[in-house]
Amino acid sequence: MDILLEWLTILVRWAHIMAGISWIGTSFYFNWFDLSSRPPKEPVLKENVRNTLHEVHGGSFYYHEQYWPGSDYKRTLAHSGPAQLTFLTGAALLALIYWYGVSIYLIDPLVYNLSKPGAILLSVGSIAIAYPLYDKLCREVDDDRKVFAVVAIATAVAAFALSQFFGGRAAYLHVGAVLGTIMAANVQFVIIPNHIAMRRQIQAGEKLDTHHGFLAKRRSQHNNYITLPVIFSMLGIHFPLAYSHQYAWIILSLVMLAGVMLRHFRNIQFTSEKKDYRLLAVAAVCGVIAIGLTYIPKPAAQQDPAELTDPVLKDIYELVQQRCATCHSAQPTSEDFTSAPLGFMLDTLAQLRAKANLVYQRTLVTKDMPIGNVTNMTEVERERLRAWLQSIGAGPLPEE
Ligand code: HEC
Repeated sequence: MDILLEWLTILVRWAHIMAGISWIGTSFYFNWFDLSSRPPKEPVLKENVRNTLHEVHGGSFYYHEQYWPGSDYKRTLAHSGPAQLTFLTGAALLALIYWYGVSIYLIDPLVYNLSKPGAILLSVGSIAIAYPLYDKLCREVDDDRKVFAVVAIATAVAAFALSQFFGGRAAYLHVGAVLGTIMAANVQFVIIPNHIAMRRQIQAGEKLDTHHGFLAKRRSQHNNYITLPVIFSMLGIHFPLAYSHQYAWIILSLVMLAGVMLRHFRNIQFTSEKKDYRLLAVAAVCGVIAIGLTYIPKPAAQQDPAELTDPVLKDIYELVQQRCATCHSAQPTSEDFTSAPLGFMLDTLAQLRAKANLVYQRTLVTKDMPIGNVTNMTEVERERLRAWLQSIGAGPLPEE
C-alpha cells in the first residue's frame, strides 16, 4: 500500500474514533439528562418546563430547564455534526480498507469464493438494505419491545449470514457497520427533520406539535440501546478469539445482547433509581455462555495427505508448520496465543494458497513474519518459500 494512502487510513481512522466519541458522548449525556431530570418543584424561568436538573461539573454549577418553547431562540444549538462525521469517516474507512483491499480483507476464499465485485456488492447491499427495513418496522410497530425483539433476531441472522460469505473479521465489522448506519440514518432522516419541523413551527408562530419531539426521541433512544452492540462488533475486529471461532456469530449476538441489558439496567436506574438485577443476570448468563463457547476448541482444517506425496509440497508444508503454525493455527502451540493472530491460520496448504500474496508480503517483502523471527526461519527457507510462492503466481502486495 502506498505510504500516503496508508496515512490517509490512519487519519481517517483517528477522525472516525474522535467523531464517534463526540457523538456517543453527547448522545449518552442527553439520554442521561432526560432520564435523570425531574419535574420542577421551585419557580422556573421558561414556559412549559417539563423537567429541571442541577449539576456540578469541572468547577461550575449548572441549572437546566427542559421545555417546549413558545418562541424561537436564535442561538439554539444542535449536535448532529459528529453523527454525520462518524458515518462519513466510517464509510471512507470501509471503502479504503475493505473495498480497496477487497481480496485481503473482504474475500476469504476458504469461507466463500466471492468475486471482487460480488464481495463489494454484498458489503454495500447488506449495509444499504438494513435501514429501510428497520424504518418500516418502526413505522408499523409502536411497541418498542417488539421492535427490539425483531431487531435482535434480525441482527443475529445478519451475523450468521454475513459469516457465511465473509471472513470472521469482515463479518464482525459489517454487523457493526449495519447497526452504525441505522444509527446515523436515524439522526439524518428522523431526528434532524423532526427538529427542523419543530423549529419551523415555532418560527412561523404556529402551535408546537410535540409529536415531532417524541418521534425524534424514540429514534434517539433506539440509538442509545444500539450503541454498546455497535462498539463491541466494531472493536471485535481486534479479537480473533471471538471472530475467528466457529461460533463467532453466536458469541457476537450474545455479547451484543448483554450490552443492551447493561444499557437498560443503567437507564432504569437513572429514571427510577431502582436496580433491576434480573437484567444484570441476563447479561451475565449471555457473557458466560459467550466466554464458554470460546473454550470449545476450533477444529483445525485437515491437510490432504495425498498432496504431501509431492516432495516440494511436503517441504513447504513442513516448513510452514514449523515456522508459522505454532501461532497461525486453529490451535496454536505458542504460549503467547490462544487463537491464531488476526484469525489467520496455516494448518493446510489450501490456507496458504488462499492468502499467498499476503504471506509473500509479510515473509519476503516486509519480512516481519515470523514475528520477531521467534521460530528462527532461515534465509534459505525464505528463498524456498519464495520459489514456491512464485511458482503458484503469488507476489508482493498490492495486487488490487
Ligand atoms: C510467534 C507468533 C507468530 C509466528 C511464528 C508467525 N506469525 Fe504471522 N502473525 C503473528 C501476529 C501476532 C500477527 C498479527 C500482527 C501483525 O499483523 O503484525 C501476524 C500476522 C500475520 C499475517 C497477516 C494476516 C492478516 O490477515 O493480515 C500474515 C500473512 C502472517 N502473519 C504470516 C506468517 C507466516 C507466513 C509465518 C511463518 C513464516 C508467520 N506469520 C509466523 C504472529 C506470528
